[in-house]
Formats: sequence, structure tokens, C-alpha cells
Amino acid sequence: MNLYICYNDEMKNYLEINKKYILIFLIVCLVVFTSGFARLTYKSFRYNKAYGHDKSNDETLNFPKGFLWGTATAAYQVEGGNVYSNWWDFEQEEGRIKNGDRTDIAANHYVMYKQDVDLMNQLNMNSYRFSIEWSRIEPKQGEFDAEEIEHYRDVLNTLSAKGIKPMVTLWHHSLPYWFEDLGGWERQENITYYEEYVSYVVKNLSSEVDLWITMNEPMAYISCGYISAKWPPGEQDIWKVNRLLKNVIQAHKRGYEIIHASDQEAEVGIAEHSSYAVPYHKNNVIENIAAYSIDYIWTHYLLEQITDELDFIGLHYYYRQYINVAAVKDLFGQSLDEFESGSMDRSYYPQGLFEVLMRFEDYNKPIYITELGVPDYHEIDRDQFIREHLREVYYAIQQGIDVRGFYYWTLLDCFEWSEGYDAEFGLIDVDRSTMERTIKDESWEYAQIANCNCVSNSSD
Ligand code: FCB
Repeated sequence: MNLYICYNDEMKNYLEINKKYILIFLIVCLVVFTSGFARLTYKSFRYNKAYGHDKSNDETLNFPKGFLWGTATAAYQVEGGNVYSNWWDFEQEEGRIKNGDRTDIAANHYVMYKQDVDLMNQLNMNSYRFSIEWSRIEPKQGEFDAEEIEHYRDVLNTLSAKGIKPMVTLWHHSLPYWFEDLGGWERQENITYYEEYVSYVVKNLSSEVDLWITMNEPMAYISCGYISAKWPPGEQDIWKVNRLLKNVIQAHKRGYEIIHASDQEAEVGIAEHSSYAVPYHKNNVIENIAAYSIDYIWTHYLLEQITDELDFIGLHYYYRQYINVAAVKDLFGQSLDEFESGSMDRSYYPQGLFEVLMRFEDYNKPIYITELGVPDYHEIDRDQFIREHLREVYYAIQQGIDVRGFYYWTLLDCFEWSEGYDAEFGLIDVDRSTMERTIKDESWEYAQIANCNCVSNSSD
């Protein structure tokens, strides 16, 4: 009908005269599209091809001298009582957190950190990755709390007394409530608040810290906070993603510059997650392109924007993620939750860590594995999980990847964001009623590994 109305004599004449040019234009479009698609297909297939490696016959696989063995935590998940955080209010809302859990005193790490450092020492850890809670340091806009700085200074001194090197994250998912109220990362003008916070922390603590992480998994923050609405601010607004991304990238760059202005020798990085995304059917073009694109959008797009402001990359690896077109087709009939837990096959796959590390080769930067862990409910024992992944780290180092440290996620059973207290990733069990700590049996092998700076290669 519409076509009939538009297709009048004038148009007919126009088409008649310009027929040749229109045809050329259409052919050019077709060629551009086809060659672009062909290039993307070629690139995706190449990208998804596994590198693989031979197995060593050595009985033990030795790690480079000075390798860092640690565990990682995030302030909001372990400290407790972070009442000025955007998470605090969020978790009081009905239905936000599994089983209606609340952080409350979490793992009481804010109070019990000395005992926790002792436990790290018993586990032979020589490094500890933890985060500083912005909402403690600056509970109200522009009001900085010197006592909280002293608290973190004490944590740093306690670590130093045991020879444990700190790696400090400046923002790990939780934000001051006032910052979110002002529009958080949605507003470019707010980057200046992050700069003020970073400057304050760095001015006070930079002499005690060599390894800094400006932010933890900004992509997870964006996707859970603004797409799936699982985290604060609980929105579903895909149109904000681009702006958020631009602002966090800018904030990272400013953080990097501020830290270096105060300490040229410091190493500054970012922590990003990378699953091993692979096509479910090896030869399926759409799945290959989708796997490549997901990995690019989720991890590498952001990293590529900041390569000049990165001394190292903090890599998180948890699972292999199969991309299955049949499952994508189902997406339209499913809620995002069902899609994530059902159709997307996320599986335990240590070799994926090797492959992911190889995908980072071109950055030519040192890498710390700043998170990798498994919850208690998984079918794999934690000691086997750690051992098998570490073998893959060893093989990547043999291939020339400069991996300098490994941080198991996490030290203590703690508050796992919207999963509440159900997902227990800790090396150490925390009794929720008494706060008593017990090192789990499956954690001792990691202590041995750290002690010998090597992992056994004998079959399990
Ligand atoms: C990572 C987060 C960390 C924890 C683990 C299980 O993505 O950085 O806080 O939730 O997952």
C-alpha cells in the first residue's frame, strides 16, 4: 500500500535515469557487506581455534621466582557494616538477595582482619588482594574519614609484619550511596568524585602499596546494574551502557595518572573477567562470530581503550562458556535468569585458562590472575580445581605469557552479592553464628603449592 503511494511518476523517472548508478550502489553494498562478513568469519574462526599445548613429563611444575600466591576479597563482601554503600539499601529491598540474606556483619573481617592475616600466613600466602571501601573513606560527599584510612593502614601494617604483599583495589562493585544518588557513572561530571577519592587514598597510603587496581570488573557492574538489574541501581536500560563504559574508562585513566603522579614505581592495573567463550558447534559460522564478539565486547573492547594506562592486567577466569545458537533462539521465550543458568553452558574447564591467557598475548603486559575460584557446591574438589588450573598457568608461562601471581577467590566464605551466603568460595569456612574460622581440608594443598612455588604434575 505504502509502496503504491510512493511509487509515482516522478519516482519512476528518477529510477529510470539512475538505474545504472543504483545498481552499482547495490553491488558495492553487497560486496562491502560480504567481504566484511567474510573477514569477521575468518577472524572469529582463527580466534576460536584452540592453541593447545603438550604436557610436561616433569614430576613438579616450577613457577618463576617471586611468583605471588594469594587470595582475594572485596570489602563489601567480607567487612560487614558498610551502611553508606549503595548495596546496603539495595539489599534491604524485598527479593533482591537470594534467601533474603543481608550482609550485616558479613565475615566480620573489618574487626577480625588480624586473625585473618594470621590464617593467610598459615596458608603460606605471600600476597593479599583486598579492596578499600569508598563509602567508608567518604561516607558523605566531600567528607573524608581519617579514622578509616588508619584502619586500612593497620591492615597494611599487619600484612607487612607477616611478609604479605598487598594488592589494593580502589573500587570493587560497591559505591557510596551519595555517589549513586548523584547519578553514579552515568554522569561524566561525577568522575571528579572518583578522582578526589583516589587522590585521598593514594596521598595517605601510597608508600605502603606497590600494586593498585583502579576498579574491579566494570563490565560486570554495568551488565548487572543496568541490564539484568540484579545489582544496584537495579535498572534495565541498555541505552546507558555506552555512556557508562565511556565514563568508567575515563575514570580508570584518571586513577592511573593520579597514582603515578604520587608514585612512579607503582604498578597500576584493572581487574577484568574473561570466560573461555567458544562455539558449541565448531563449524557453525554464527556461533563462531557470536563467541568472538562476546569475548570482545565483554573483555577486550575495554582493555584496548586503556592499553597506555595499564601496567598489568588483572585477569579473572571462572569457566568455559559455550555459545549455542539453538540456545540463543530460545532467549526470546525465556527470562534472562533462565537463559543464564540453563541454555548457556558454563562449565569447569581448566584448559580454558590456558587458552584465555594465550588470547592476552598481544597486550604484551604482565598478568596477575586476580580471581579464580569454586564454590563448595560444585562437583569438583577445591584442591583438584586449583591444581588443574595452576598447571595451565604453568603451561602459559612456558609459552612466554608473563604471569606474575595467582589470587584464589576467596579467603573466607562471604556475601556473594545477589547470591547471598549460598555460594561459599572460601578457603576458610566461617560459622555464621559464631564467626569462628576453620581452614577447609581442601585448602591445604594450595598452602603446599605456595610453599614450594610449584604444583605437582603426577596424575590425580
Ligand atoms: C567476581 C567478583 C567477586 C565475586 C566472584 C565470585 O566476578 O569480582 O566479587 O563475586 O566473582
